[in-house]
Amino acid sequence: MTKVALRGDLLDFIAEPAWGDTGAQEARYRADHWLLIEGGRITGAQPGAQDPGEGWQREDHRGRLILPGFIDTHVHSPQIEVLASYGTELLDWLDTYTFPAERAHADLGVAAAGAERFVRALLAHGTTSAVVFPTVHKSSVDALFTAASARGMRMIAGKVLMDRHAPDGLRDDVDQAERDCIDLIGRWHGQGRNAYAVTVRFAPTSTPAQLAMAGALCKADASLYMQTHVAENRAEVQWVAALFPEARSYLDVYASAGLLHPRSVLAHGIWLDADDRAELRERGAQVAFCPSSNLFLGSGLFDWVAHAQAGAALSVASDVGGGTSLSMLRTLADGYKVQAMAGHRLTAWSALYAATRGAARALHLDTEIGSLEPGRLADVCLWDRAVGEVAERRLAVARDLHEAVFAWMLLGDERNLVASWVAGVEQFRRSAKTETTR
Ligand code: GUN
Ligand code: ZN
Repeated sequence: MTKVALRGDLLDFIAEPAWGDTGAQEARYRADHWLLIEGGRITGAQPGAQDPGEGWQREDHRGRLILPGFIDTHVHSPQIEVLASYGTELLDWLDTYTFPAERAHADLGVAAAGAERFVRALLAHGTTSAVVFPTVHKSSVDALFTAASARGMRMIAGKVLMDRHAPDGLRDDVDQAERDCIDLIGRWHGQGRNAYAVTVRFAPTSTPAQLAMAGALCKADASLYMQTHVAENRAEVQWVAALFPEARSYLDVYASAGLLHPRSVLAHGIWLDADDRAELRERGAQVAFCPSSNLFLGSGLFDWVAHAQAGAALSVASDVGGGTSLSMLRTLADGYKVQAMAGHRLTAWSALYAATRGAARALHLDTEIGSLEPGRLADVCLWDRAVGEVAERRLAVARDLHEAVFAWMLLGDERNLVASWVAGVEQFRRSAKTETTR
């Protein structure tokens, strides 16, 4: 059995930190420790001075941070090609940039190359697990699960459902979509670390009949995930109200179709009301807060505090290509700024918890990922605390742990990433060319 020991400063969470508590004891920081990995699982940790001994492949990274790999709960694999597209809000952005880019993935070669590029990029940004929208094409799902399986990654994805209000080449129909989903579920759901998500793009692009079909799939198998978008943009919310006049709210469209359950991941949720939040809590569904995307597309400011006070589950996500970076550090930095606009202060602990153990918990995967507890699969990332003279100076004058980690979160990005392991196997290592001082 392979035995790997990584030496550095270990940071993870033993439970959810309280809002605003910079001294939260739930943040577990173990300075200069060995993280012990046997057969792909974390088996323990011990002080740096206590050498693991013979039989261990040792890597000494004293002074660097070791965290659980980040979990991006909402990201679109084909959209790395539309990152940073100028000048539009959501609905125009979809028509102008996103739908044309997704249509190209009907081609098997484009889908396979795109999936490989995407998965490599996640790992190069410190993200080891993701909940992903590929495209409407069945082959895009095969390509994504194939690329993730080759690296042993935890991947949650499904064929995008769209049977109206989408251009030619991107529409399915209820019967074909159902057949495709059943086939894909049979081949991928529960295979290795793959799980299938019934993937409703958003209410406007599915007929009520397709929403009902998606709800029936969820009802037939409670282990399936469901992913969609909700209440992201004001024009979108108005459009949904016009399309579904009988629904109490946008969220209610999904609730009525049987799409809200403990494995539902709904991106955005900016324009939800108190009744919606209560509904989310009751159904156990989570919102994926996508701050970079919400800023870039001018969608609005998500109210984390109201959401948390309602007791609803929450994770954080890049939403690339609406979001402008796959880096969860950049995403969390944007999250801090969005909350600051409402006068709320997001601690590094609440932010990093949401991107690791909190996301794992909301996905019911916390016995597998999200922390450095013994027994978890060793999805871990190694980070430089600072890259460049400015960040190094900021770090040097940090007076306490929260200040130092917060500065890392706000100033860091994928350039800080040294290496990523998935189930104990190295899947990314920064090339020596870009090596910087620690
Ligand atoms: N709503 C429907 N589709 C999309 C998408 O691809 N990105 C975002 N941000 N919102 C959506
Ligand atoms: Zn999205």
